[in-house]
Amino acid sequence: MKRDKIVAGNWKMNLGLDEGMELVEKLAKAYTHHEPRMVVIPPFLHALAVQNYLQSVHSPIEVGVQNCHQETKGAFTGEISASMIRSCRIPFVVLGHSERRQYFAETDALLAQKVKAALGQGLIPIYCVGEPLTVREGSGQNDFVAHQLEKGLFHLSPEQFKEVVIAYEPIWAIGTGVTASPEQAQDMHAFIRHRIAIHYSEAVAAATRILYGGSVKGSNARDLFVQPDVDGALVGGASLDADDFLRIASSI
Ligand code: PGA
Repeated sequence: MKRDKIVAGNWKMNLGLDEGMELVEKLAKAYTHHEPRMVVIPPFLHALAVQNYLQSVHSPIEVGVQNCHQETKGAFTGEISASMIRSCRIPFVVLGHSERRQYFAETDALLAQKVKAALGQGLIPIYCVGEPLTVREGSGQNDFVAHQLEKGLFHLSPEQFKEVVIAYEPIWAIGTGVTASPEQAQDMHAFIRHRIAIHYSEAVAAATRILYGGSVKGSNARDLFVQPDVDGALVGGASLDADDFLRIASSI
């Protein structure tokens, strides 16, 4: 089963508009491939400018945003809906990032609604799961991630589910410089695929794209990408540097 390879760069709350445009211009000049799919994920305020620029230069680089609201529209000051994102022709949305779960109290139940809203608008969710350090130290990571999958994603029909991209991001590896070892990443990715096979089917599991995230850099990407169940990366810090991000993409 051939799965899309994806390298996605989550800019988080970084870069002014000029800096973001400079970064994406560098990427667009250097990156003309369709495989792996390269996705840049700027803050909401800049995403449309980035999208318009990439379209104007016919770049294969795709755009995502970092969150969406679960309702379609209404009196939710400061929020952005999946249909608004769709109306900007932006295809990807990150959901369930550990920073959203931790700092904005996003629960599995809320995320289950958000992922439905995103899919309802034809967006591709990049849905993040991953355990904190204390859970890893107690070897509870499989149960923890299985629970996140069950509560956040397994309400979806198989047709809906196969649109979802999963990102396994152990919290202890995010922004710490401590990457999961290739074996730790592979073990968890294989476990996630196994859970999907039990809940849906072998075919759905084999088709699901599972990215690894957490301190991915140009220097460690290749060892992660050779693992059979690692289909790419969700990159934070290193995606702010064009050369490093390009090196990651060329490591697949
Ligand atoms: P990092 O972030 O690459 O800076 O560790 C990854 C993420 O949060 O998606």
